[in-house]
Amino acid sequence: MEVRHRLKITHRARQFRISRVAFELAAFALTPLLFPGSASAQQPRYTGPGSCSSASCHGAVQPRSDNSVLQNEYTTWAVQDKHSRAFSALTGDPGKRMAHNLNINAATSSRCIGCHTLDVPDDQKARTFDINDGVSCENCHGAASNWLGPHTANDGSYAKSVALGLYDTRDLIRRNEKCLSCHLGDDAKSVDHEMIAAGHPDLYFEIESFSAVMPPHWKEAGASDASAVAKGLAVGQAVQLREWMRRIGRDAAQIWPQYADLDCFACHHSLTAAKDSWRQERGYAGRKAGSPPFNASRFAVLDLIAKQLDGAAARRLDVEVAKVNQLVSDPQADRRQISAAAGQAAATADTLARDLAAMNPDSAVSAGLINAICADSERIAAQGERSAEQAGMVINSLFIGYEQGKRPMNDAKIRTAIGDLYKQFENPSSYNPEAFARSLRDLGALAGGL
Ligand code: HEC
Ligand code: HEC
Ligand code: HEC
Ligand code: HEC
Repeated sequence: MEVRHRLKITHRARQFRISRVAFELAAFALTPLLFPGSASAQQPRYTGPGSCSSASCHGAVQPRSDNSVLQNEYTTWAVQDKHSRAFSALTGDPGKRMAHNLNINAATSSRCIGCHTLDVPDDQKARTFDINDGVSCENCHGAASNWLGPHTANDGSYAKSVALGLYDTRDLIRRNEKCLSCHLGDDAKSVDHEMIAAGHPDLYFEIESFSAVMPPHWKEAGASDASAVAKGLAVGQAVQLREWMRRIGRDAAQIWPQYADLDCFACHHSLTAAKDSWRQERGYAGRKAGSPPFNASRFAVLDLIAKQLDGAAARRLDVEVAKVNQLVSDPQADRRQISAAAGQAAATADTLARDLAAMNPDSAVSAGLINAICADSERIAAQGERSAEQAGMVINSLFIGYEQGKRPMNDAKIRTAIGDLYKQFENPSSYNPEAFARSLRDLGALAGGL
């Protein structure tokens, strides 16, 4: 079988806006005075994207340049963002086939609608709510009824809206938690191997690449340099490892083994003559020959990021994640031990995420990370296709950030080399680590001068 790589390479740079933090903190302090009732605000209700779509609010056709908010967010979402079509995906042909294989009605099944639309209790739906809107504004920004009125007032600052229930997507950790609740799953929703075998795409994520493809309907706060992208991406990787470890902990307590937590291509690859097998050549360090390793992609690149920015956390995670991998690939392992080990690694990843969110790496960090990943080509390549794919996405995002500040002389060559990395994910079942390691080394030779 073949699982195709879906995310196309992108060279879309993010837009940045001047921070208004000082002003907003002041406004935040005033909130209780301005909205005395806000602490005991009413049960919030979901009003639907229509309430944001007026041309003078978020429904402009062209972005506004004279404001920190673009004001064409609705248009971007409705026209370019796949989230607006997430509900109809359930009833399109691939959705229908899945529903048939799983013997469910996808448009009503609790196994699907938590991620493909806004699934909230009826008493929280305003009259304007419509399930067909798919993943819309309030999935990510929270129920609008309490802040909708105040935030359209002239002094409607961001902090004031957050105090009234707007979900704080500016906070990097919370932003990633939000995306990952659907792009990796949480305690209420998940994509397991049964759903994948029925036809669901396998889930993978990298915050900067996915934000670029979404595409973003916002300007990022702060300076427009490589360091902001490096920081966003580093925090994203740490939150992702944390959520991944939590997921393994949950699955071990519920349905185990959960094939979707393992390396897909450990099982789904085509066999070759023994002499041509890179798996036999590589060997099975840390596990028995033929046992399934876990999906290492959510640590393979983060390991290097942590080594560069937070050595102590990196050393602890090296030990703790290896322990999880060893237990997961041992069919005899005690499931409670798996959950405990995963819980430990999740806690360390959480500390790392918070440390990274408090750092302001200088712009040299991006170039340093690109080079560190290229220099570690053999190890990353050997961890499998999904790890290689994370490395590809991370390098692409870092380079886009870097270019914004300083365009290297060999810019075009570097882009072509990054494109060559992406070509290796076109048919994951026949992924070849030697070829990938070679591509990474070639890129490293070009990126050495960054
Ligand atoms: C944990 C969240 C989650 C659950 C639960 C979930 N999905 Fe998805 N689904 C996603 C995400 C995220 C994507 C996009 C994946 C990507 O492109 O990386 C997706 C993609 C899809 C696609 C492909 C859409 C396209 O445009 O190609 C179909 C079809 C689909 N899901 C159907 C279903 C059905 C049917 C169910 C229930 C059996 C379901 N999904 C349950 C998160 C979920
Ligand atoms: C899939 C998640 C998602 C959906 C759906 C979504 N947004 Fe956003 N939105 C974000 C993220 C992430 C940011 C960037 C962080 C930030 O600056 O707040 C953002 C930023 C914004 C901002 C800038 C806020 C600021 O910080 O000043 C506005 C305005 C906005 N979104 C409006 C909308 C509207 C209107 C819709 C629906 C038409 C919508 N969003 C749908 C995730 C989403
Ligand atoms: C409520 C669940 C949910 C949340 C939250 C969410 N997504 Fe999604 N996302 C989906 C689903 C479902 C799809 C598949 C839509 C389709 O193709 O029909 C999707 C698709 C995407 C795609 C298109 C992928 C492709 O293969 O083209 C991108 C990019 C994406 N999401 C980015 C993000 C980012 C970035 C965030 C956080 C800011 C986020 N998503 C938050 C559910 C969610
Ligand atoms: C431990 C081995 C194992 C792992 C790991 C595993 N699978 Fe499977 N997979 C299977 C088996 C067994 C089947 C059933 C094949 C059949 O019915 O012919 C299957 C079926 C499938 C199918 C449907 C068959 C087809 O040809 O379309 C898909 C798609 C699939 N898996 C994708 C994945 C993905 C993606 C992952 C990783 C997230 C994964 N699998 C991890 C063993 C595995």
